[in-house]
Amino acid sequence: MIEIQGVTKIYKELTAVKDLNLTINKGDIFGFIGPNGAGKTTTIKILATLLKPTQGYARVCGYNVLTQADDVKRVMGYMPDSFGVYDDMRVWEYLDFFGAAYKIEKVRRHKIIDEVLALTDLSHKKNDMVDALSRGMKQRLCLAKTLIHDPQVLLLDEPASGLDPRARIELRELLKELRNMGKTILISSHILTELADFCNTIGIIEQGTLLYSGDITAITDRIRGGKVVEVRVREGFEQKAEEVLLNSGKCASVERDGLDIRVTVAGEGPTTDLVSDLLFEAGIKISSIKEQEIDLEDVFLQVTKGIVQ
Ligand SMILES: Nc1ncnc2c1ncn2[C@@H]1O[C@H](COP(=O)(O)OP(=O)(O)O)[C@@H](O)[C@H]1O
Ligand SMILES: [Mg+2]
Repeated sequence: MIEIQGVTKIYKELTAVKDLNLTINKGDIFGFIGPNGAGKTTTIKILATLLKPTQGYARVCGYNVLTQADDVKRVMGYMPDSFGVYDDMRVWEYLDFFGAAYKIEKVRRHKIIDEVLALTDLSHKKNDMVDALSRGMKQRLCLAKTLIHDPQVLLLDEPASGLDPRARIELRELLKELRNMGKTILISSHILTELADFCNTIGIIEQGTLLYSGDITAITDRIRGGKVVEVRVREGFEQKAEEVLLNSGKCASVERDGLDIRVTVAGEGPTTDLVSDLLFEAGIKISSIKEQEIDLEDVFLQVTKGIVQ
């Protein structure tokens, strides 16, 4: 759905994006991660046909951003990182304005406005003034606007920045809904934790260079040397548990801290089943067991330190 081929963007002396290659498939939720100034917005604007690359090209749904910009705009929805100022406009008027800009006829426009307002949970604000909305609501309105022409691909530039925790959670739920609708989403962020439970693929960019792109679990496993199971055993069983796991030949590493044991398991398959079976067969009682969650901050640090390329 998105294909970037050798894209470089130079502003005078500064190379904002260097020879970037990237593919995003249908239904992917791609987290575009990098610190401020890394080149995320530049890349997104190139995809949104708002900026021309110095070199290279990109395609969105097969359409070339350089030569088929009108087609790209039809199939793509772009949410910028800043919300413009719209004084003296009601929520529905704002959406009506953009609907008209997309040449959606009036009768259908009204129906679609109701739909996107319902989706973004703003129906009750339909007649409110835009500039009186809270930041979280403005952000959702901006997303509603982005959805008005039912685009297949969404480019969302730091949609959660500046939101309070509640608004962030609401936004995340909304994005999950869009994912379930089959949209392909590129979402950028410099806050890593908010993307981890949401994206299936990520790209890590620093100083204009894409350091990694691909599956999120694959990179996590690579960094950790496998999947990590965190198990807590009942008091009195800890030493035996450690021995059993170490001697099983099935664990890449075993670290114990009191009753808590971290077990790294290489290879495929249900890791918690493997560990709990080993302990159960040795008569060891378990208080809790779970696979360690993905920690994007960890992934980011390892990748940007050059440990994984
Ligand atoms: N219009 C511009 N003119 C000159 N430099 C720019 C311009 N826009 C962005 N830059 C620079 O390009 C680099 C990448 O910026 P940007 O793509 O906005 O990064 P990000 O979105 O990851 O924070 C930064 O160093 C930024 O200062
Ligand atoms: Mg940016």
